[in-house]
Amino acid sequence: MINIPKGTKDVLPEYSYKWQYVEKIARSVAKTFGAKEIRTPTFEHTEVFLRGVGETTDIVNKEMYTFLDKGDRSITLKPEGTAGVARSFVENGMHQSALPAKLFYITSCFRYERPQAGRLREFHQFGVEFLGANDANIDAETILLANSFIKEVGIKNVTLYINSIGCKDCRKKYEEALKEYFNAHIGDMCALCKDRLDKNPLRILDCKNEDCKKINKDAPKILDYICDDCKAHFEKVQHLLKIAGVEFKVDSGIVRGLDYYTRTVFEFVSENIGAQGTVCGGGRYDGLIAQLGGQDVPGIGFAVGIERVLMLLENTGVTIPNDGKVTIYFAPMGEKEGEKAFELATILRAKGVSADFDHMGRGIKAQFKYADKIGAKYVAVIGSNELENGVVKLKNMADGSEENVSFSELLVKEF
Ligand code: HAM
Repeated sequence: MINIPKGTKDVLPEYSYKWQYVEKIARSVAKTFGAKEIRTPTFEHTEVFLRGVGETTDIVNKEMYTFLDKGDRSITLKPEGTAGVARSFVENGMHQSALPAKLFYITSCFRYERPQAGRLREFHQFGVEFLGANDANIDAETILLANSFIKEVGIKNVTLYINSIGCKDCRKKYEEALKEYFNAHIGDMCALCKDRLDKNPLRILDCKNEDCKKINKDAPKILDYICDDCKAHFEKVQHLLKIAGVEFKVDSGIVRGLDYYTRTVFEFVSENIGAQGTVCGGGRYDGLIAQLGGQDVPGIGFAVGIERVLMLLENTGVTIPNDGKVTIYFAPMGEKEGEKAFELATILRAKGVSADFDHMGRGIKAQFKYADKIGAKYVAVIGSNELENGVVKLKNMADGSEENVSFSELLVKEF
C-alpha cells in the first residue's frame, strides 16, 4: 500500500459536505462585500515569493516547496495566496480597471512545516484581497468581511487582535530602536535571529524560540514609533470597527510572519484548537504591487485556514447541515420492479431530486441497510403487488411511517 504524503489529507466523501458548507459561506459572504473570485496557478516562478513574501521570512527560508522544472526554471508551489494575486494584478494591468479591485480565492497552499494538529503541508485558504484603496474604511471593511465569515460559519469564542506596524518611513525609526535593543541581548538570541538583526529586525518579534520570546517581551513597541498619518489611520480603523460593533484588542505583539505588511495587521485567534490557534490573519500591504513591478497601488487582505475552521467547528460541537444525502432510494424486489425503479429514478433526477436504486441485486433487508448507510430520507419499495397496482410503498426513514403512493403522485411529490 502506498500512503498519503506526510502533512496532507484526503477529504473523504462522508466529510466533504463540511468543506462545501464552509466554501459556500465563504463565497456568499465575499459576494455581499462585492468581491469576485480570482484563480491563480498552483505554482509560480519562485521570484514571486522571494520578492513578495520576503527573503527573511520563515516561509521563504524554510518552508517552500521549490524545485527546478524540466526547463531549469525555479518553480515554487504557492505557500500563500497574496503574492500570486498581486503578480496577476500587475501582469493583467488591473490597476486600469475599476478600483478598488475586490478579489477572493479558495486555494491549496503548500508549506514544508512540521505537521501537527492544525498545521499541514498542504492546506487550504479562503482569502480576500482588496487592491487600490488607501482609506482606513477599507481596512475596517476587510476585517468585517473576515468577521462576518467567522460568525456565519458558526465559530464562537475567537478574539480579534489588531495592530499597526506603520509605513516604511516610521518603520525605519522603529527598526533602529529594535536594533539597539536586540544588540544588547544578542548573546542570548538564536542563530537565526542574530542573522535577522541586520536584515530585518521586525522578524525577531515573530520568533518561536523560547529565549527570543523572553527577550521580545521588553522590546520597544511599534505603536510608540508610528508617524502621525499612520496613527490617524489606525485610529480611524478602530473607530469604524466600534461603529460596526466588532470587538477587538489592540496587541502590539501582532507583527505577522510575512514581509509585505504595512500599517494595519490583524489576527483572529481561538483558544479551542490548541497551539495553532490563529484561524485568520491579514493586513495592509501598500508596497507589494510596486515590489512586483506594478504601480504604486495599495492593498489589504486576509486569509482563513479552512482546515482550522473545520477543526474549530468540530471541537466546539457545531453541527454542519448535510444536504448531500440521497432523497429517495428505490428498493425493487425483482427484475421487472428494478426496471420500474430505474424509470422512476431517471424521471425524478431530471427534476433535480436526488434519487438512487439498487445496483447489486440485494434482497430487501440488505437494501434497507444500504439505504440507511447512505442516509436516504425515503425508501420506495416496489414488490410485485406494488408494480401491479402502480404504487410504491414509501417509507419515511426518519419517523418510520409508511404509505402507498402512486407512481404519478410520486413524480410530482415535494420532497
Ligand atoms: P498566514 O498567516 O501565513 O497569512 O496564513 C493565513 C492562515 O492560513 C492562518 O491563519 C492559518 O489559519 C492558515 N495556515 C497557515 N499555515 C498553515 C498550515 N501549515 N496548516 C494549516 N493552516 C495554515 C497568509 O497566508 C497571508 N497571505 C494572508 C493575507 C492575505 N494577508 C493579506 N492578504
